[in-house]
Amino acid sequence: MTIETASQAAYLVAALLFILALAGLSRHESAKLGNTFGIAGMALALIATVALAIDDDLSGTGLALLLVATGIGATIGLYRAGKVEMTGMPELIALLHSFVGLAAVLVGWNGYLHVEADSDGAEAAALAGQDLLGIHSAEVFIGVFIGAVTFTGSIVAFLKLSARINSRPLTLPGKNLLNLGALAAFVLLTVWFVIDPQLWLLILVTAVALALGWHLVASIGGGDMPVVVSMLNSYSGWAAAASGFLLSNDLLIVTGALVGSSGAYLSYIMCKAMNRSFISVIAGGFGIEAGPSDDTDYGEHREIQADAVAKLLTSAQSVIITPGYGMAVAQAQYGVAELTRKLREKGVDVKFGIHPVAGRLPGHMNVLLAEAKVPYDVVLEMDEINDDFARTSVVLVIGANDTVNPSATEDPSSPIAGMPVLKVWEAAEVIIFKRSMASGYAGVQNPLFFRENSAMLFGDAKERVNDILRSF
Ligand code: TAP
Repeated sequence: MTIETASQAAYLVAALLFILALAGLSRHESAKLGNTFGIAGMALALIATVALAIDDDLSGTGLALLLVATGIGATIGLYRAGKVEMTGMPELIALLHSFVGLAAVLVGWNGYLHVEADSDGAEAAALAGQDLLGIHSAEVFIGVFIGAVTFTGSIVAFLKLSARINSRPLTLPGKNLLNLGALAAFVLLTVWFVIDPQLWLLILVTAVALALGWHLVASIGGGDMPVVVSMLNSYSGWAAAASGFLLSNDLLIVTGALVGSSGAYLSYIMCKAMNRSFISVIAGGFGIEAGPSDDTDYGEHREIQADAVAKLLTSAQSVIITPGYGMAVAQAQYGVAELTRKLREKGVDVKFGIHPVAGRLPGHMNVLLAEAKVPYDVVLEMDEINDDFARTSVVLVIGANDTVNPSATEDPSSPIAGMPVLKVWEAAEVIIFKRSMASGYAGVQNPLFFRENSAMLFGDAKERVNDILRSF
């Protein structure tokens, strides 16, 4: 068997492993196995690619460059993965997407320099002989365009998520026309480039795509950021698939398509969970206007202390815990798991209600609770638990805010109007763990805090949970 055939076989196995990885990651119980499949697929793909490159008459310098680049990449990757906080994950993912985008741009440019712009013209003549030169030029152009949009879009998402720039949506006059104009220009330039591949056209499309990526994501506001991250995930997949065509690498095409379609599907599911129009979000906030600022007087809030909460909990029949971003910040999941165990020992029925966009990345709360060994069967999705609040004695809102905001269902003028939320206010008592009266991620006031059956337990969520445990 030649190295070429062995590598192609390895690519096929790697593609299957990636599909198994996606299937595994869709359920808590199989997520670890899914990750293992993904790692095995990636390791196999890397080995096969290096073997193919060596077989392809790679010179000593080429091999050295390959090994040095892989070494540097792996070292930085390992270092970052070891250091990143769970809460910093979305911004790291956004940054990683920007690398995929940049790689696609470089692969596209490299394709152009080796074929269309090559001075001896041998490759171009060979492709032209098979009527494939036009297809090559289109691949170059499309790959560079998607890659450049992904690159700047991901950088803006990274800057917004890490609060290095303001997360408010940018609203340039005629912003939708600007986006549509850039798309129309891309189509026209592609046709031109296929007919007559000239350097200035490639430079122009790169510049247009860089500006479009930046503008698309800058126009999207804070509340829609989760969708942006998964949408950029999708774009990075399509950029990788485009590079796969240019490099004639089947695995890259398959993997890119898997990432592209699963990212697009995840964006769609999240849009449904946030009651956002998918098209309007991916078109850069098309039709989304910023809501009016809220100066309503909601009255006074009530405060409660940890020992009183402990008493309330021990006399409760049923408790639902709805965690949010604050639980992640405080790293309160271990205390919360201990609290759950203690209450269940006392015969209290304890369940968790997880909002699809609680925290800062899909599945954020599920990962934290699994890490703290909370049993899977008491962790329910929003749709499974929303009808149970009315029959519940006490709800503990631990560091959640937007995901439990009643104005989403009751105030049509609210910026989060229409977003499905956990109906915690229907329970007999609601205890809200947070440090102040500050608003959540979407920057909207939460009338829940001022309801008669609500009480605020101020302070760091981890410390307050520990206080309750001590009071038991
Ligand atoms: P948020 O609305 O972000 O509210 C979190 C609350 O936690 C804040 O009000 C904050 O209040 C409190 N908090 C922060 N640190 C705390 C600590 N150490 N101890 C106790 N409380 C603390 O959270 P959520 O309900 O989870 O909603 C998620 C929001 O993020 C949604 O708007 C969603 O659209 C957005 N988002 C989600 C994702 C994904 S995919 N999940 C990605 C990006 C954005 P204090 O400051 O007063 O303590």
